[in-house]
Amino acid sequence: MTILVTGGAGYIGSHMVHTLLDAGESVVVLDNLSTGFDWAVPKGVPLVVGDTGDQALAASIIAEHRVDSIRRPPRYTEIPFRSRSTRTTRRCRCRLTAPPN
Ligand SMILES: NC(=O)c1ccc[n+]([C@@H]2O[C@H](COP(=O)([O-])OP(=O)(O)OC[C@H]3O[C@@H](n4cnc5c(N)ncnc54)[C@H](O)[C@@H]3O)[C@@H](O)[C@H]2O)c1
Repeated sequence: MTILVTGGAGYIGSHMVHTLLDAGESVVVLDNLSTGFDWAVPKGVPLVVGDTGDQALAASIIAEHRVDSIRRPPRYTEIPFRSRSTRTTRRCRCRLTAPPN
């Protein structure tokens, strides 16, 4: 069985891939390389270049690699807020979605 890491050619995702490999897991990466790099994916790990929105592609990866789990980096966004103490507009980093199990 294999873990699919989306965004696995990016900064956080590639570290996630290394951690999973160190734990003895089999990994496949789906990444559209919009900001990631193929060299960031460890040798021996299949990299499928494509978009997570491509359902047919995702289905074929799941079937071909017998994927039983999907992981992705946690998503953060910056939300502006008005600071009472400094009376300036600042930005707060907030987690958008739960981290992968
Ligand atoms: N860099 C940090 O210190 C940090 C810390 C905590 C959380 N995060 C969060 O983790 C996430 C990833 O951050 P990062 O620094 O690794 O960014 P990154 O740009 O290095 O990695 C994102 C990866 O996702 C790929 N990607 C983007 N859209 C895609 C799509 N539709 N289909 C397939 N692949 C796609 C990119 O090509 C890239 O490889 C962000 O949401 C960020 O907010 C980052």
